Amino acid sequence: MNLRYARIAGTGSYLPEQVLTNADLERRVETTDEWIRTRTGIERRHIAADDETASSLAEHAARRALKAAGATPADVDLIVVGTTTPDLVFPNTGTLLQQRLGIHGCPAFSVEAACSGFVFALSLADKYLRLGEARCALVVGSECLSRIVDWSDRGTCVLFGDGAGAFVLTPADEPGILATHLHSDGRYKDLLYFPWGVSCGFNELRGGARGGLRMLGNEVFRTAVRTLSRLVDETLAKNGIEHEQIDWLVPHQANLRIIQAAADKLRLPMEKVVITVQEHGNTSAASIPLAFDTAVRDGRIRRGQLLLLETFGGGFTWGSALIRY
Ligand code: UT7
Repeated sequence: MNLRYARIAGTGSYLPEQVLTNADLERRVETTDEWIRTRTGIERRHIAADDETASSLAEHAARRALKAAGATPADVDLIVVGTTTPDLVFPNTGTLLQQRLGIHGCPAFSVEAACSGFVFALSLADKYLRLGEARCALVVGSECLSRIVDWSDRGTCVLFGDGAGAFVLTPADEPGILATHLHSDGRYKDLLYFPWGVSCGFNELRGGARGGLRMLGNEVFRTAVRTLSRLVDETLAKNGIEHEQIDWLVPHQANLRIIQAAADKLRLPMEKVVITVQEHGNTSAASIPLAFDTAVRDGRIRRGQLLLLETFGGGFTWGSALIRY
């Protein structure tokens, strides 16, 4: 066995052109800009055009990440995409992305873990690199959540948006990705889910069923805060890291108040937390690589820094990654 580490060689992200502001939503449902901003921190979200899909958003982010890494699609030997809103049931979105990049033959697949999809995908790709089974992995989070939101439900439609983010991972003698910690618990399924799939509810959809993802926001909120707090403790303890050693917290961008609670738990000032939720709302699996790439490109995240990524989403699923950038 050839044990080594994976490092982030480059990052990229993409937001669709069309922007939907809180003021736009005021005209669609009974809500206010003030309510949305104070309860969530969100100011706008981006909506995929009709001809855009999870794989097309992923392609933009992936090409940008490859460019940043000084790599080309021909170098890629593994693709893992986290998505809850795949183009199709099959082929999987990883394979569709592979085709878009004009490469063939390397393993390419999708991971389905709702908002935690990117961290789950990262954890998997990290293991391929550590075992020497890949040398240039493309890890992507990409979502078109606007397609599964009920635009008449003010409790959910103000929260979500579309986008994609990507990392290129390459081997290194030193970490890199120090550790990932993943968890799932299906007992919470009914608190956040999309009610129609293929082997369940397909005929209702064919019959014209209408609606969108369902969420008991308040309970999700409370469980997210409690769970992320435990996750932070677990990640620091298992890796022998003290709170003050973390340079940046890069959290899943669902709600500013959840992010604040996690930062409090870490005793991290908000200046050390990457926050982009105001720009794109909750983009599920895309949110962490989107935030990460933003902070790399604007110079906040720098080489050598210690970063904590943490996420929580439907399932429930939750997870963290500790990274020396
Ligand atoms: O990606 C991971 C999964 N998702 C999340 O992490 C989301 C977790 N949950 C949340 O972010 C928050 O629970 C929400 C932002 C969804 C809601 O915030 P809240 O502070 O928990 O509000 P609430 O659900 O307790 O609702 C408070 C009030 C209710 O009215 P009443 O019953 O007090 O009269 C809602 O009907 O706010 C009302 N409300 C709204 N008002 C204006 C709910 N949505 C809206 C809205 N505009 N868009």
